[in-house]
Amino acid sequence: MKALILSGGKGTRLRPITHTSAKQLVPIANKPILFYALEAMAAAKIREVGIVVGDTKREIQGAVGDGAQWGIEVSYIEQEAPLGLAHAVKIAEPFLGNHPFVMYLGDNLIKDGICSLVEEFERSGANSQILLARVRDPQRFGVAELRDGQVISLEEKPAHPKSDLALVGVYMFDQTIFEAVHAIQPSARGELEITDAIQYLIDKGYQVHPHIISRWWKDTGKLEDMLEANRIMLEAITPRVEGEVDEASHLIGKVIVEQGASVTASTIRGPAIIGRRCRIINSYIGPFTSIYHDTLVQNSEIEHSIILDQCRITDIGGRLEDSLIGKNVEVFRSDGKPKAYRLMLGDSSQVGLV
Ligand code: G1P
Repeated sequence: MKALILSGGKGTRLRPITHTSAKQLVPIANKPILFYALEAMAAAKIREVGIVVGDTKREIQGAVGDGAQWGIEVSYIEQEAPLGLAHAVKIAEPFLGNHPFVMYLGDNLIKDGICSLVEEFERSGANSQILLARVRDPQRFGVAELRDGQVISLEEKPAHPKSDLALVGVYMFDQTIFEAVHAIQPSARGELEITDAIQYLIDKGYQVHPHIISRWWKDTGKLEDMLEANRIMLEAITPRVEGEVDEASHLIGKVIVEQGASVTASTIRGPAIIGRRCRIINSYIGPFTSIYHDTLVQNSEIEHSIILDQCRITDIGGRLEDSLIGKNVEVFRSDGKPKAYRLMLGDSSQVGLV
């Protein structure tokens, strides 16, 4: 068994973060999303992993390297433009050969890994196994229609979904998928859709085995999804304090303070993570907050947010909530007159004022 992880794409719904960074590297509970996929592969004993990369190749490669830290061997496969998930399979054919494989979308998070799902696929002898989850907004996903436990049709982002069963971004295939990706035509949005390729398998009478998952799963394409993913992953942390917490501070509930971080005269109510070398001074960090490395929070309150590295959040006077703050961002209160908001925001930024 091999694996193909898709880590291209433009991440348009997460701008401005994705103007400069790959969405797959946004940390969830202080770990890049993509690393959860790599851990899942290692746990399922899949050693050879191909990562399909686009514009953010350098950054992905810099973070993942050769995969040795997970005990896997990573190859990089370049996709010149985001031409669809089935196009990614097509260009990965030389890497995949005739091995069965798991295809995993690098912005998807699935709790508790994929070991049992891989085993089920291997036992089933099917040509493909798709994972389905019941969702409230199926028009955002590929949608499956089942009859008597068999998949009869798949539709990509339908305006009028035939069911509430969304395709989860984790698929299993044998080599018959190559016949399909060569046969299909681009969709209206100009992409070779994996949904169409799987529909081809069904139409040709190949075995496509559906598995409805009940475990938690998320496509982290949007801000609210990122915050939810962060919440779920933080709930599962084991508290530890590797940095310094002074006597005037209180850690309540599940809190991680990573190495080199310091917490001074502050309250941190978990679940929350304070990253390496962060400084939290005279502040309140509320539940479901992750603060990545080297960030300073002083005289401020933050709750239910993801803050990336090297930020400075000082004297803000109110409470920051439901926010995703990119790298190296400053948020502060200025005493200058006239009293006004003074902003320097990147393209596609969003600011909620009270
Ligand atoms: C892709 C697939 C879709 C699937 C979804 C899961 O959509 O095309 O069928 O349901 O991933 O995350 P995308 O997120 O690329 O729009």
